[in-house]
Amino acid sequence: MNVESGKLKPGQARCPAITTQEIIAKDKVGAPGWVRSESYEFLGDEDIPTDRYTDPAFAELEYERLWTRTWQFACREEHIPEVGDYYVYDIGTYSFIVTRVAENDIRAYFNACLHRGTKLRASGSEGSASEFKCVFHGWSWNIDGSNKGIVCPWDFPHVDRSTLNLPQARVETLGGFVWINMDQDAPTLSEYLGPEALAHFAAWKLEDRYVSSHVVKSYPANWKLSVGAFHEAYHVPRTHPQVCPANGDLNTQYDVYSDHVDRFIAPQGVPSPYHEGRYSEQEVLDQCTMGDSSMVGDDRPIVPEGGTARQVMADMYREMFEAATNTDLSGVSDSEMIDCFSYTIFPNTFLFPGISLPMAYRFLPNPKDHRETQFEIFFLRPVPKDGVRPEPAEPEYLTPEQSFTEAKSMDPGFGKIMDQDTDNLFMQQEGLEASAKPGLTLGNYQEIRIRNFEKTVDRYMTVKP
Ligand code: FES
Ligand SMILES: [Fe+2]
Repeated sequence: MNVESGKLKPGQARCPAITTQEIIAKDKVGAPGWVRSESYEFLGDEDIPTDRYTDPAFAELEYERLWTRTWQFACREEHIPEVGDYYVYDIGTYSFIVTRVAENDIRAYFNACLHRGTKLRASGSEGSASEFKCVFHGWSWNIDGSNKGIVCPWDFPHVDRSTLNLPQARVETLGGFVWINMDQDAPTLSEYLGPEALAHFAAWKLEDRYVSSHVVKSYPANWKLSVGAFHEAYHVPRTHPQVCPANGDLNTQYDVYSDHVDRFIAPQGVPSPYHEGRYSEQEVLDQCTMGDSSMVGDDRPIVPEGGTARQVMADMYREMFEAATNTDLSGVSDSEMIDCFSYTIFPNTFLFPGISLPMAYRFLPNPKDHRETQFEIFFLRPVPKDGVRPEPAEPEYLTPEQSFTEAKSMDPGFGKIMDQDTDNLFMQQEGLEASAKPGLTLGNYQEIRIRNFEKTVDRYMTVKP
């Protein structure tokens, strides 16, 4: 679409290069409806006030108004496959023991003893339990949350054990994820996501994936800045120049589905519009495969006469991932094989349902420091077709000083990209604290997900519980 932005209404201008949909339309194995649709809406162009990233009082209010009322990815179902298995999920100072009580019954207990409040399970712990017994005086609860016993009941005639149940957050499962919400009056998860996003979920079958690696690192930037850094591909030419020869960044497609769900599709195997005309198809392909002998073996892949790097990449990825995961991907579209699909589930989860880089991100604020975020990357590989689900990977913790390239369970090339993103973040945090300008300015199209996200933050923050 070649347009002059001056003649258009706000939000109508697009990168003059080939569009994401035009690229996908040329693919050999066609893409499903959830890939081929567009859903952009102009949401205003005011600056975003800076204090939400720099003011500890804003973070305090988020714990009262935002984290207590939103659906959050607490763990994967495969983290708690058996009755009695549990996984502790902390958000801020809140903590939950997410427990499988029966085959189809998962509960999330507030992680605090009903005597004098001691945590029943340590933060970051997981395991299998037949009861939850407090370490302090020994009061205990069954895994269904009912009280099992208190010590010296003669001293507590005023305590009715029959009603001394562990309080619960709400729990729903979708796509193999366990979601929790502290708000008993919140919409259901389906209502929260909306019908369009639910249809996308149904197509992805993320319940048939498993956590093949899990990398965790903290760094000094507010969690909302962190979310925003992954909401757009506008930063790619400057921040990740090494991927530009084979990455459609400035012509990435952005979609908004509801207050709580949006996405981008960044086409791969095509050059950045920033470099348009600079590379031949063979050079694009060389860039995609360069240095990765696991992908290409000893032979340099060649783009056939009249062919495209993108098509060679899609065919190669399909073959490679079928072999590596023992799965049948013949019906999976070229776009799903190679493109980067990034979805946000408000507030702090990203899902990447594509095949070549299947992931979830989770961003957790540090309750003791509003300018610190814990960033988790979960790789979600398909369960092999023999149906035997591998154990979910243990988390690999990096120190704040370590590079993502040091993660043993992550490709170093991807680690370099994560380093580039997170290095920007603490520079952005410090810059906002040093800035004379009171707000952030956003592009109407490429930064629409940030605007959608911050508008939703505002919606929660302005309504008292
Ligand atoms: S605080 Fe838990 S038994 Fe006393
Ligand atoms: Fe990035």
